[in-house]
Amino acid sequence: MTSVPTRILLRHARELLTMDGAALDPKRPHDTAPLAMILDGAVLIEHGVIADVGTTASLCARTRIDADTLVVDVGDRVIAPGLIDSHTHSLFVGHRADEFVARIEGASYAEIAAKGGGIARSVRELRQAKDSELDGSLHARLRRMVRYGVTTVECKSGYGLDTESELRSLAAMERAEASSGLTVLRTFLPLHAVDPSLRTLPEGRARFLKRTLEETVVTVLREARPHFVDAYIDGPGFSVEETRPLLEAARNAGTAVRLHVGQFADVGGAELAAEFAAASADHLEFISDSGMAAMAHAGVVATLLPGAAFSLGQTMPDGRRMRDAGLSVAVATDCNPGTSYLENLPLAAAFAVRSCGLSTVEAWCAITRVAAHSLRLNTGKIAVGSPASLCVLDIPTWTALPYAIGSVQADWVYHRGRVLHDRMRES
Ligand code: NIG
Ligand code: FE
Repeated sequence: MTSVPTRILLRHARELLTMDGAALDPKRPHDTAPLAMILDGAVLIEHGVIADVGTTASLCARTRIDADTLVVDVGDRVIAPGLIDSHTHSLFVGHRADEFVARIEGASYAEIAAKGGGIARSVRELRQAKDSELDGSLHARLRRMVRYGVTTVECKSGYGLDTESELRSLAAMERAEASSGLTVLRTFLPLHAVDPSLRTLPEGRARFLKRTLEETVVTVLREARPHFVDAYIDGPGFSVEETRPLLEAARNAGTAVRLHVGQFADVGGAELAAEFAAASADHLEFISDSGMAAMAHAGVVATLLPGAAFSLGQTMPDGRRMRDAGLSVAVATDCNPGTSYLENLPLAAAFAVRSCGLSTVEAWCAITRVAAHSLRLNTGKIAVGSPASLCVLDIPTWTALPYAIGSVQADWVYHRGRVLHDRMRES
């Protein structure tokens, strides 16, 4: 990370998206008002806070440029809020490329898991890894995400599955936040799969559920203080009945929940997410109209993970149907070694437009202000008085988000009073 002057003036941006405009109207998905776009835009940062926003002409007329002000002419690029990846499993070691090959050759995700692959394999690998390997892998992954304009990443545990390994995972996330300079939201995912060391034992599943609830959850909520609790409610995951005690424990501890729901089957997770007023329900390849209505009524954000559907060769989640049902929709990478080895959030947004039915305006909101809302953050916008978190993207216009597939990169990223990325200095 480079040293940072106390005043920075970014000016002559062809387009500046403050994302601080009107609410999205599902009936007018292409209305650009939510972007609150400023042409030939400028933004002034002072001591890590947005001090002024406007057109270059207006801002320069009222701004004193002294020797301490770093002035950057942004030119043919887009300034946007720092992007927010609201669903990742970024803390893992190794890879499972061979499982992808097996899926291409016809094996299913469930068949691979039944043979001891899948999540269980990543659990074994994480438990064998030293802390330094966890740190190195997560730090490097977060730093690669910054290159796509990302400043805030939600990161799930769930490759630990026993008390010690879950605590280690959440501690590694805290260290990675400090070392990388990004904001890392820590999500405790104790019900991701049955601990592989219990799974084949008699009553293994019941013993795992009991140990998780009575020991792991109690200890982790008390000692690691995660931002969120998560569970994988699905055919190959856990049932509503198995998950409910975990969500009650989270509620008693005052910890918000976000849930994996309906990736392979609708087993009632959307209704459970609504009942517990989850911050978000994610995946939703399989969801009923009544499940969507319950989520909309409870204000649960629907988070699309098109990278997973793509990698699994599934039908994409229907974002348009969710918007029509009145849901706020976020988009995230689901970065993980099994179903979505994707670090590129703008590419996830491109999938969401081309294959899930979101408009480009909705996709911008989905990776900024709606993602922030789903993480209970007041960020994802460029507003005077807010902590400065923004990226300068190497695209000439906002409509290139889904068009420049895989090629949207940040030239410059600023977050929490630091320059996180400066491509000009690297090359
Ligand atoms: O969100 N399906 C559950 N969890 C992950 C996959 C994790 C893995 O396969 O390692 C997901 O897709
Ligand atoms: Fe996931």
